[in-house]
Amino acid sequence: MECKLAVLFVILLSTGESDSCNNDISNSPTLIEESKRATTSVYLECYCQDSKVKTNLKWLDINNKVIETLRPGPKPDMYTERQTNKISLHIPSLSKTMSGVYKCINDHNNGSYYEIQQYKVDVYEPPSIREDSTQFISLGKDSKIKCELFAISLPMITWHKKTEDLIQIFTDDKYKIVSDGLIIKNVTQEDAGNYICSVLDLKYSEEVDMDITVEVMIEPKIKQIVANPDRTLIAGEALTLECIADGVPYPEFTWSKVTNTKPGVNTTNWFVLSNKMWFENVTGEDQGTYECIAKNNAGEAKQQLVIEVLVPPQITEFSNKTVAVGSNAQIVCNTIGRPTPNVSIIFIGKDNDEEFRESTEDDILNNLSFITVNPSHEGFYICNASNEIDIVTKTMYLTVLRKPHFKEPNETIWGWIGKTVNISCESEANPKPNITWRYLGNNEQTVDEFHMKRQLIEAMTSEPDTYYLTIDITANSTKLYGYYECIAKNNLGEAIKQIYFQEGFVPPPIKNASGETTATSASFEIVVPDYLVGPPIIGITCEYDEASNYGITNIHKNRTWSIDRDFKLDKLKPKTTYNIKFAAQNEVGVGEWSASFFFETMKPSTPNSPIWEVDFPVVNVSKLNQVLKWKAADDNGEPIDYYTLRYCQNCEIDEESCKKINIETTNKLQLNTNILNANTTYCVELLAHNQMGNSAAANITVHVAALVVEPTPTLSAGAIIGIAVAVVLLALLILDLILLIWRRQGIIANCYYKNNRKRKDDNLQTRRQLLIQ
Ligand SMILES: *[C@@H]1O[C@H](CO)[C@@H](O)[C@H](O)[C@H]1NC(C)=O
Ligand SMILES: *[C@@H]1O[C@H](CO)[C@@H](O)[C@H](O)[C@H]1NC(C)=O
Ligand SMILES: *[C@@H]1O[C@H](CO)[C@@H](O)[C@H](O)[C@H]1NC(C)=O
Ligand SMILES: *[C@@H]1O[C@H](CO)[C@@H](O)[C@H](O)[C@H]1NC(C)=O
Ligand SMILES: *[C@@H]1O[C@H](CO)[C@@H](O)[C@H](O)[C@H]1NC(C)=O
Ligand SMILES: *[C@@H]1O[C@H](CO)[C@@H](O)[C@H](O)[C@H]1NC(C)=O
Ligand SMILES: *[C@@H]1O[C@H](CO)[C@@H](O)[C@H](O)[C@H]1NC(C)=O
Ligand SMILES: *[C@@H]1O[C@H](CO)[C@@H](O)[C@H](O)[C@H]1NC(C)=O
Ligand SMILES: *[C@@H]1O[C@H](CO)[C@@H](O)[C@H](O)[C@H]1NC(C)=O
Ligand SMILES: *[C@@H]1O[C@H](CO)[C@@H](O)[C@H](O)[C@H]1NC(C)=O
Ligand SMILES: *[C@@H]1O[C@H](CO)[C@@H](O)[C@H](O)[C@H]1NC(C)=O
Ligand SMILES: *[C@@H]1O[C@H](CO)[C@@H](O)[C@H](O)[C@H]1NC(C)=O
Repeated sequence: MECKLAVLFVILLSTGESDSCNNDISNSPTLIEESKRATTSVYLECYCQDSKVKTNLKWLDINNKVIETLRPGPKPDMYTERQTNKISLHIPSLSKTMSGVYKCINDHNNGSYYEIQQYKVDVYEPPSIREDSTQFISLGKDSKIKCELFAISLPMITWHKKTEDLIQIFTDDKYKIVSDGLIIKNVTQEDAGNYICSVLDLKYSEEVDMDITVEVMIEPKIKQIVANPDRTLIAGEALTLECIADGVPYPEFTWSKVTNTKPGVNTTNWFVLSNKMWFENVTGEDQGTYECIAKNNAGEAKQQLVIEVLVPPQITEFSNKTVAVGSNAQIVCNTIGRPTPNVSIIFIGKDNDEEFRESTEDDILNNLSFITVNPSHEGFYICNASNEIDIVTKTMYLTVLRKPHFKEPNETIWGWIGKTVNISCESEANPKPNITWRYLGNNEQTVDEFHMKRQLIEAMTSEPDTYYLTIDITANSTKLYGYYECIAKNNLGEAIKQIYFQEGFVPPPIKNASGETTATSASFEIVVPDYLVGPPIIGITCEYDEASNYGITNIHKNRTWSIDRDFKLDKLKPKTTYNIKFAAQNEVGVGEWSASFFFETMKPSTPNSPIWEVDFPVVNVSKLNQVLKWKAADDNGEPIDYYTLRYCQNCEIDEESCKKINIETTNKLQLNTNILNANTTYCVELLAHNQMGNSAAANITVHVAALVVEPTPTLSAGAIIGIAVAVVLLALLILDLILLIWRRQGIIANCYYKNNRKRKDDNLQTRRQLLIQ
């Protein structure tokens, strides 16, 4: 509007005064003076009304330079335009530097000119306020709302606050208007709102308003830091921390780790976005205290949170090891993990069969403790590392190096025809030793023979890994008997073994024996020969028969005992004379028979005492249906028909307290404690009986506890099996009875007829006899 007015004014001026187009220099040029806002445009015309005057019109700029006419190309800041008798000046956009005097001249005589018109322009920048439209003031403090002015020569500032109406603000107790803003004293919450800063430039009459929204700042306050999923977590999990805070304006956040940071390592393993920070994959190193700082212009707040990262155990060092015997070694199982793992090392031996081996206390080693290595330490070790999170194991093998060692540094080996002998130089050694054999011969051969054999053996053992020397002995083979030496050698040392390879023979005849007889058995004491060239005696063979049979047959009974057994014959006839001869036996064969011995069995007698199958003569019975068993007694020549059990309550041995039962040999040989009263002590006597009478008594004392009788259960699994067994037994019994009646066979028949056999009436005690050679 102003611009248009100015242009119109120019036009009016120019039309009014432009006729002064003569060369009368004394005529002062017309002057137009004005102030113009930057960026507005200028258009001025200059002409002579008097067409007779010769004209050459030009515009000069503020530096008296001719302003060119418009030409093709980029548009200049200012230019002129010629028409007939007219020249116009164009300035499309004014700027402050363009302020000054522009002149229109008539260059009528080649360089000599006169001015027609002057145009003085004062270009000013429009007033402006450069401030944020939203500003913050601090509660309780004196704060300034900024409204800074630019390019204003003569400003007049007014402030208004927008409530329902517009209220002008003046400097008073509450407010103070200053050149660059408005100071509000002792800010309260009510001071928030919309303010208008109005500036009037008195010089150019320009006015500008600025709406400012004012908010009252509040210091940040952190409510909490939320850890998702938790502030204690396991390595590998993702973690998000969120700092929940408020404040006006909304605070800015910074995150940091305050503890447990290794110097030099910038562990920014995390990502931050405003009030959140997160780990995609926490590690043990991320444990520590984290701090969130919320900050705005009103102040800042901090809060910390401790993050705990649990790390599953990991065995970092537990590897195969090789050590020499006698050295001090450590079996080390290094682990990492949080909480610190429990570590145990278990020795499981040379076979890596964990399942089939129970480890003993001795097998459990302390981590890091030193052991003085011996060969038994060789084998697999397992390290177990466990903490709350996991358990891991690792296996290692400890190899023990040792110089060769022979369990038997000298050995005698027997050979005989037909035998294949392995002479061994096997030793305990690691690494595997080299073997050297030597044949040392014996005293019974010629020098030539010896050299021949030595060469033979050297040929057989030329390889350094000949651990065995195998010799097949036939009747014709060269007799390689003699002394041998083998040397096992590895880089830790050597060991020598001496082997005497000797011809072995069967044992010589037995010279001496004695025996002890009962009615049906005989036990011998045999004096084995003490002189023996050959492997040890492994057994004794005997040939025996009733003396009366020797005239009738050459075939007699024989029996072989292993050397460690009792030399006992049984099932002999009572009161009978027997002949017997012995021979000792070893690996080579059976030695010669001894001369014949004879011995006599005794008359039948009362049986031996039965023997209770109990650990102590005093028995505690604490279970229902407990049975006490005994072993069948030796019958001493006449079969036992029954056993007699006598049990006396409270051990009072009289007719009243004692009860007696007979148990046939066909029944089970046992006392079922069911027949005894609970909470009572009994003295129990057991006798075996045969045709000859009763045996000596076998006594035990039985304490029966106060038993609680359980209510009889409805058929249990055990009862069902019991019934099934009973049914089967009943069926067998019926079958047996049928056999008895029909064919006089079967178990019952056997017992019946056996018991009725005739017996001789002899009553002899065991006696010792010296057998005559
Ligand atoms: C104007 O003067 C210049 C030298 O100043 C001369 O070269 C030119 O010819 C003159 N022109 C006229 C029209 O006189
Ligand atoms: C600020 O204002 C509060 C409440 O209006 C008043 O209690 C306090 O005294 C004032 N402080 C000053 C310094 O004027
Ligand atoms: C977490 O980091 C460890 C070590 O950098 C890596 O072995 C593991 O695979 C990572 N786990 C996940 C879920 O990314
Ligand atoms: C850690 O950061 C500091 C500066 O922030 C830098 O000078 C230094 O080289 C960084 N160290 C590593 C190991 O990146
Ligand atoms: C580690 O050993 C200690 C003491 O022997 C025991 O109390 C604790 O429960 C063990 N921890 C684990 C994870 O086995
Ligand atoms: C450790 O020794 C065992 C047994 O000799 C073997 O099987 C295993 O391969 C060895 N392990 C290493 C890493 O050498
Ligand atoms: C067997 O070895 C021992 C020592 O180990 C030695 O005293 C003894 O003489 C050796 N016997 C023979 C028959 O070489
Ligand atoms: C043993 O040698 C004799 C003569 O030296 C010979 O007659 C016999 O066949 C040989 N026997 C064997 C098994 O070589
Ligand atoms: C064992 O014999 C081999 C081959 O003859 C040889 O290379 C090695 O050095 C020998 N080792 C020892 C400990 O003598
Ligand atoms: C031992 O007796 C059995 C028969 O009872 C007979 O076959 C065997 O040849 C006998 N042995 C000896 C060495 O007489
Ligand atoms: C066992 O017997 C004793 C004395 O004979 C008696 O005092 C006690 O009460 C009895 N106990 C039970 C459980 O019957
Ligand atoms: C135990 O045996 C003896 C004979 O050795 C006998 O006199 C005694 O009566 C027996 N005791 C009982 C309780 O039967």
